[in-house]
Amino acid sequence: MNHFQYRDGQLYAEDVPLARIADDVGTPFYCYSTATIERHFKAYSEAFRGLNATICYAVKANGNIAVIRTLAELGAGADVVSGGELKRAIIAGIPAEKIVYSGVGKTWDEMAQALSAGVMQVNVESEPELELLSEVAQALDTTATIAIRINPDVDARTHAKITTGKQENKFGIEWTRAHEVCARAALMPGIEIGGLAVHIGSQISDLDPFRDSYVRLRDLVAMLRSDGHEIGCLDLGGGLGIPYGENADDEAEETYPTPADLAAVVRKTLGDLGCRLLLEPGRSIVGNAGVLVTRVVYVKEGAMRTFAIVDAGMNDLIRPTLYDAYHAIEPVTQPAAGATLREMDIVGPICETGDTFGTGRQMPSLKSDDLLAIRTAGAYGAVQASIYNARALVPEVLVRGGDFGIVRERISVDDFIAREPFPQWFSDPT
Ligand code: LLP
Repeated sequence: MNHFQYRDGQLYAEDVPLARIADDVGTPFYCYSTATIERHFKAYSEAFRGLNATICYAVKANGNIAVIRTLAELGAGADVVSGGELKRAIIAGIPAEKIVYSGVGKTWDEMAQALSAGVMQVNVESEPELELLSEVAQALDTTATIAIRINPDVDARTHAKITTGKQENKFGIEWTRAHEVCARAALMPGIEIGGLAVHIGSQISDLDPFRDSYVRLRDLVAMLRSDGHEIGCLDLGGGLGIPYGENADDEAEETYPTPADLAAVVRKTLGDLGCRLLLEPGRSIVGNAGVLVTRVVYVKEGAMRTFAIVDAGMNDLIRPTLYDAYHAIEPVTQPAAGATLREMDIVGPICETGDTFGTGRQMPSLKSDDLLAIRTAGAYGAVQASIYNARALVPEVLVRGGDFGIVRERISVDDFIAREPFPQWFSDPT
């Protein structure tokens, strides 16, 4: 369920017509719904009630500070993967003791930043990282509580680019070596073992891979406890998939497991271990809480296809071209009942054929200036935007009831140019 619905022939975000925001902010822009974000967060917190769980929102999915703050006010923790994300989470009001720091390439500075901030836990993904963390902790005269992120060698059956739990992936420490690595960690100064972590991938639509990785964790907990380690915390990662199609809500009911379904698997496999649990959902909280609103620039009759060329490009939303992702696209003005539809490709202005948001979509007869909403763009949308083709950085808007606010301004081409000085060997061109 999401709060982008047609009302009187216009697509609204909660109680605000998207067309009104477009007039105010210009296009393209991302628009997020507070009520939808809250709804999804609560689905998690309710599903995991009684399991001693903290929902650590994966900031990478949507790092906008106002979005994080919306979640902070509901009691969320955060999962961060860089010093930048850590800064955002803290500024947004997530308490450091609810922040878990993951990622395969943490630098000295990032580790120092995390330890000085007092994060709850650092998830360690390799032995060189463990050694460096021990050095940083000693230099700061503190102790780092860690979880060993294991690679369970489980296939999440999702897109190859977002699969993280297979042996050939760069993530985590082979599960077969957990015993050895924990033994080393236990002897390292400045390191305290808090538990284990796992994250097998993203956009996972089947509970079996989750179950398989949790069973593996369960066995490891037993083994490590018998080695004498106190394993008090299990970080179960994120990864729950969401529907992206035209009938996303119906599709969700049919094929996508909910947080409650996931919690049932957790209860069954790990519920009796007495561990504190961390969850790191990203997409399933913010994914369908956002749309990318764009304006048709031209309708072009090509030799073989009809193109609606819009003012958003792959630089604003890269998911379709990077992961062959499908996003439903809807006209902001609802087509009249029985309107004739025609097949169109919805494409951007960027000089690459991959700059395509959808092919062969059934659309009413579109014309220049019509607005379209590219749905389910709240996760991995704005955060992956760039300024390719010397375009402005896309703005973001947050709606709450009948109110909306710009939560990231459009960062203009001039703003970027102002930060590109000529080196001294060129004479001033002006
Ligand atoms: N925890 C860790 C350690 C992760 O690496 C990720 C996502 C998450 C949690 C959150 O996973 P989620 O609940 O959002 O599935 N850009 C890609 C997705 C990349 C996911 C990266 N890691 C996309 O647009 O599909």
